[in-house]
Amino acid sequence: MEKLIVEGGRPLSGEVRISGAKNAALPLIAATLLTAGKHTLRNVPDLRDTRTFFRLMAELGVTSERKGDVVTLDSTNLVHAEASYDLVKTMRASVLVLGPLVARLGRAKVSLPGGCAIGARPINFHIMGLKALGVSCKLENGYVDAERDSPLQGNVIYFDIPSVTATENLLMAAVLAEGTTVLKNAAREPEIGNLVDMLNGMGADIEGKESDKLTIHGVKTLRPADCEIIPDRIEAGTYLIAIAATGGSGTVTHCNPAHLPSLLEKLRAAGLTVTETEDTVTVGWPEGINSFTKRLQSVDIKTMPYPGYPTDLQAQFMTLMAIGSGVSMINETIFENRFMHVAELKRMGADIKVDGHNAVVTGKGIQGLSGAPVMATDLRASSSLVIAGLAASGRTEITRIYHLERGYEDLVGKLTGLGATVWKEQEQEVVRKS
Ligand code: EPZ
Repeated sequence: MEKLIVEGGRPLSGEVRISGAKNAALPLIAATLLTAGKHTLRNVPDLRDTRTFFRLMAELGVTSERKGDVVTLDSTNLVHAEASYDLVKTMRASVLVLGPLVARLGRAKVSLPGGCAIGARPINFHIMGLKALGVSCKLENGYVDAERDSPLQGNVIYFDIPSVTATENLLMAAVLAEGTTVLKNAAREPEIGNLVDMLNGMGADIEGKESDKLTIHGVKTLRPADCEIIPDRIEAGTYLIAIAATGGSGTVTHCNPAHLPSLLEKLRAAGLTVTETEDTVTVGWPEGINSFTKRLQSVDIKTMPYPGYPTDLQAQFMTLMAIGSGVSMINETIFENRFMHVAELKRMGADIKVDGHNAVVTGKGIQGLSGAPVMATDLRASSSLVIAGLAASGRTEITRIYHLERGYEDLVGKLTGLGATVWKEQEQEVVRKS
C-alpha cells in the first residue's frame, strides 16, 4: 500500500484549480439510468469513487468513456438491476442506483450499504420514500429487493432528517411517476440543485430547486442528459483551510464561493482576509505570516445541513483550531462517529478533548503540531491529517491514503502547485519474524 509523506512548516501560496464535485458526480451518473441513450457529463472528477461508480454502472450495462473531464455514457441496454455487496460495501453512494432502476425497470436489488467509519448510515428514509411511491421493498440477506407491479404513483414524502442521498434517490424515482410527488424537509445541498438541473434538462418537471420542498410533476419520457457538474465545495474548503493553517495566502479557482457561505464567515471570524470573485476565493493573513501567529482566533463550529456548516469540513477546521490561540468548541450533529481524526491529531501534539458529539480544541499556536506517523480512517478525516502535516514542523507519514483518493483528485499535484513538499511512497511490508 502507499503512504503520503508531508514535510511541514512551509506557507502555501499561489493558485489551485478545483475539480468537479464528487457528491454531485455520483447522483448525476446514477440518473443516466433513467432513460436509454447517450449522455454527456462534463467536469467529471477522476477519483476512486467515480471510477468505482462507473464499474457499478458497467455491471448494470451502462458503458462509459472518458475524454479528459468529459464522460459519455450509453444507458441503452441495461442487463440487470442488481448492485452487489462487493461494490456497495466500498462505496455507500451505490445506493443511488435504487431510485432510477425502480423508475425505469420496475425493480432493483441493491445491497444494504452497511455502516462505515463515521456512522451507521441507515437508508430507512430511502425505503420509506419508495414505499410511499408504491414500491414493495423486502429486506433479506443483506439486500433491498425493490419491485413495483404498476407505474409509480406520486405522493407526499416527509423526511425526518434532510437526507442528501435520500432526497436524490426519491427525486430520481419520482420524475417518471404518475401524478405529482412532493418531498418535504428535503436536503438543500448544492449537489441536489445540480441533479434538479440535470433532470429538468432531460425533460423532467421539478420545482423548488434549493428549497426544502421539491415538487416533481411526473412525465412519461426523458431524453439523454448533457450536463456540467458543479465545482467541489468540499475540495475548495479543504484547500482554503490548508492555506490558512500554513500561514500562507492563496487562491482556489473554478469554484463557487456561494456554495461555501458558512466556511468563509468562519475563516473571517478566525482572523483571515477572505476575498471572493464569481469563481475564485482568496484567503490570507492581513500582514503575512507574522500576523498569523498573533491573529488566528479560535471560533466555534456546529455542523448542520446546508447552508449550515458542512460536516464534510469539520475535521479540516478542527486542525486549524488546533493551532489557534484560544479554545474552540466543535459540535458534530450529523454523524455519530465523526471524530476519528482526533486520536491521530493528538499524536501530532493537538490538545483536543471529546465528549460525545462535542470536541473542545485548545489551540497551541503555529508551532503547536509536530510531524508524526498517522493513519487515515475516512475520507475527510484523512484530509485533516494532511493539513496538520502541512502546518506541523517536521515530517508526517500518512498511511491508508486510499481514503484520500476517494475524494481528492491529483492531491499531490495540487498541493505541490501550492508550494507544499509532499510525495507518495510504498509502505515497507513489515515481515514479522515467527
Ligand atoms: C451525503 O451522505 C454525502 N455523501 C456525505 O459526504 C455527507 O457527509 C452527507 O451527505 C451529509 O452532508 C454523498 O453525497 C455521496 P445523509 P448521505 O443521508 O446522504 C441520517 C463525503 O465525505 N440518515 O444526508 O449518506 C444519517 O445517518 C461523504 O463526501 C438516516 O437516518 O448523508 C445522518 O445522520 C461522507 N436515514 C443524517 O441522516 C437515512 O435513510 C444525514 O445523512 C438516511 C440518512
